[in-house]
Amino acid sequence: MIIEPIISGVVARSAHPEGCKKAVDNQIDYVKSANPIKNGPKRVLIIGASSGFGLAARIALTFGGAEADTIGVSFERGPSDKGIGSAGWYNNIFFKKRAEQAGRRAINIVGDAFSKDVREQVIEAIETYFEGEVDLVIYSLATGLRPDGNGGFWRSAIKPIGESVSGATINLETEQWEEATLSPATDEEIQGTLKVMGGEDWESWIDTLINSDSVADGFKTIAFSYIGPAVTHPIYLDGTLGRAKVDLHQTSHALNLELSNFNGNAYATVCKALVTKASVFIPGLSPYLLALYKTMKAQGTHEECIEQMQRLFSTKLYGQDKIPLDGERLIRMDDWELNPDTQNQVGKLLEQMNAENFKTIGDFEGFQNTFLNLNGFALDDVDYTKEIDVERLQKLRP
Ligand code: NAI
Repeated sequence: MIIEPIISGVVARSAHPEGCKKAVDNQIDYVKSANPIKNGPKRVLIIGASSGFGLAARIALTFGGAEADTIGVSFERGPSDKGIGSAGWYNNIFFKKRAEQAGRRAINIVGDAFSKDVREQVIEAIETYFEGEVDLVIYSLATGLRPDGNGGFWRSAIKPIGESVSGATINLETEQWEEATLSPATDEEIQGTLKVMGGEDWESWIDTLINSDSVADGFKTIAFSYIGPAVTHPIYLDGTLGRAKVDLHQTSHALNLELSNFNGNAYATVCKALVTKASVFIPGLSPYLLALYKTMKAQGTHEECIEQMQRLFSTKLYGQDKIPLDGERLIRMDDWELNPDTQNQVGKLLEQMNAENFKTIGDFEGFQNTFLNLNGFALDDVDYTKEIDVERLQKLRP
């Protein structure tokens, strides 16, 4: 079977296993040659480990100097009569293979991170493989749904609060710029987003781990946030997602207090805007991403998830006498993104950008390639004309 990219709007419907393997290998190669993580954690749990920031964090901590063993939780599909399976499914498989080849333990737990069952599996894995304790928990879920405990779901909505906002999405299927106006969120949508993407579930995971005595002395936990420049605030920071992120920041402070009993700490880590499975969904963010990619590449400061995570662990979270924090106790990995020179240039590009010229004014090629790479496509040195042995893939287990 030959696998081609299938995209509906901004969602990839196919993934290339060999390409996913290559993308994992490329990230491993990068962290092996980067500034190493010193005094890093040895036993790490990553909730949302199969793509984006979570996968990059897992790779950085395993291969970028810390030599960590990891337990990764994710929600991914394997091959079935419905399709070849998701990119994250293959990322889990190939990451584990490489980690084991390097003598590291890598346990994949595939299931719903909100469920009791997955929590129990994680605690059992910590008992079995980590001598009962974990040193770092990375909370990196991005999802639209969370079970409400009564048979239904809370749903997140990406909407402004108070007034309508207009913005463009880049449709990756048609390569068209699509203008949309988003009406303000209802109270229910604001609450739903808070439940799905706010701090409550992170806190409940940490409480579960504390209650099962799984937290090591000096334990740390981080979750990822986004703030962005003023131009993105109407749709992000001042909208439903921003409300949820502010809740996440507050949770980090509450958890930090709770963890003082273990000499531990909790931090919300503000990352840079990047093309991931989750972010291409956010209406109005794509033009900004096009302008940001173009500018940061020209200035030599562009980073993808892997560069962000390696820099986070090697220069901020570990190996320092004091973790650098801003006035609101946040770790800022968006420091280069928000550099005034960068934002000045991004602003100029955005002023000129429109439906006709976005492919040249912005870094459309980079945007599209990054998106394709996430699903194992458009990577150098992968022979996409080669037949894929589906039977062999079906035998691979995460
Ligand atoms: P992603 O979509 O690449 O990864 C999400 C992960 O969560 C995957 O491993 C997926 O399997 C897992 N997941 C989703 N639902 C699950 C469930 N019910 N049970 C178990 N696992 C589940 O997302 P990305 O972009 O890496 O986002 C991670 C965090 O980083 C989010 O909090 C996001 O808001 C934040 N962030 C993202 C930025 C961006 O530009 N992409 C910028 C700053 C922060």
